[in-house]
Amino acid sequence: MSSSLGTMFRITSFGESHGPCVGVVVEGCPAGLKIDMGEVQRDLARRSALSQPGATPRREPDEVRFLSGVYEGRATGAPLCMIIENTNIESGAYAEFVRKPRPGHADYPARVKYGGFNDPLGGGRFSGRITAGFVLAGAVARLVLRRAGIEVDAHTVAIGGVEAPPCDAQLIRERARLNALSCCDGPSAVRMVEAIEAARERGDSVGGVVECVARGLPPGIGEPVCAGIESEVARAVFAIPAVKGIEFGAGFALSRLCGSEANDPFAVSDGRIVTTKNDSGGVLGGMTTGMPLVLRVAFKPTPSIAMAQRTVDLDANEEVELAIRGRHDTCIVPRAVVVVESMVAIVLCDLALQSGFIPRVMRCQ
Ligand SMILES: Cc1cc2nc3c(=O)[nH]c(=O)nc-3n(C[C@H](O)[C@H](O)[C@H](O)COP(=O)(O)O)c2cc1C
Repeated sequence: MSSSLGTMFRITSFGESHGPCVGVVVEGCPAGLKIDMGEVQRDLARRSALSQPGATPRREPDEVRFLSGVYEGRATGAPLCMIIENTNIESGAYAEFVRKPRPGHADYPARVKYGGFNDPLGGGRFSGRITAGFVLAGAVARLVLRRAGIEVDAHTVAIGGVEAPPCDAQLIRERARLNALSCCDGPSAVRMVEAIEAARERGDSVGGVVECVARGLPPGIGEPVCAGIESEVARAVFAIPAVKGIEFGAGFALSRLCGSEANDPFAVSDGRIVTTKNDSGGVLGGMTTGMPLVLRVAFKPTPSIAMAQRTVDLDANEEVELAIRGRHDTCIVPRAVVVVESMVAIVLCDLALQSGFIPRVMRCQ
């Protein structure tokens, strides 16, 4: 099983949904970085189910504990280990899925691959809960990036077929935090909540799309040809459970344009090289252009639904019906917004360290 990402800023995720804790080890965090515990805790709270429509009824305080790598409030340069405890566990419903795998979930291939020894409780390693570790590492990465003037923000742009209008990149943070869906457009957020509630009443679930924008990047971050920005971000983002697609800039729509329409013309603004539009999403040749990095991530609907579905009883080798009890998100998207931000921040931090844009020691802050 592979649980690590990155080269210079390297993270290793660990823990299972119903084990004692979930967490992360971060290697390569610049020494001297002031660790703002409040900031880390705030990011965790954005992932928690406490205030989000369509979120699981599983309620946990999700308090971070730093086990190593911090001395007098600053990163020491040694591995940073962070955990949160799993305190609200109901494992009763899950034994059934070992025998009757949930359509859309990882139960079946995991049973085959790990010979039935994988932890099935709460989805084990395949639970959305493991993303709490990604958020912890992402919060540290954002502290590093902020020191270099780089900000990463994400927002919900679609849920259950409801699409929000485009939002100016400068305004995402301010507007997205106005509602629990992290959607910049209030009226769209209301319709998204209705779509989630309607799905829940039917015993069904819905998916959606998260857009992420990173600003303040200098040109030239990314290690082409095999570790360019797009490939590294895609690798990290696909580690988030339920992600099924990613596009940069105008993405798939570029394939329907002519070169004259698709190319972003270069221009000079206040002495800086810019492009007059940003359909490339701020990446050319796997390197940042200096324009905002823009990407969209597609999340499928939550697999565990109350509505009856067809599956197979693997022990009896016969087709059966499965209606899923237990505590599940009707829509993953609102909780995943901060997870997408975190993965993008982790990758940018790693590539910015590799390019020398961020130093290995941060002296004064
Ligand atoms: C934040 C978050 C919460 C999730 N919550 C649930 C859930 O409550 N129920 C569920 O069946 N899947 C949930 N998932 C999705 C599953 O973990 C995922 O679909 C499953 O591991 C199969 O992986 P795949 O969809 O990437 O193929 C969640 C994912 C994330 C990112």
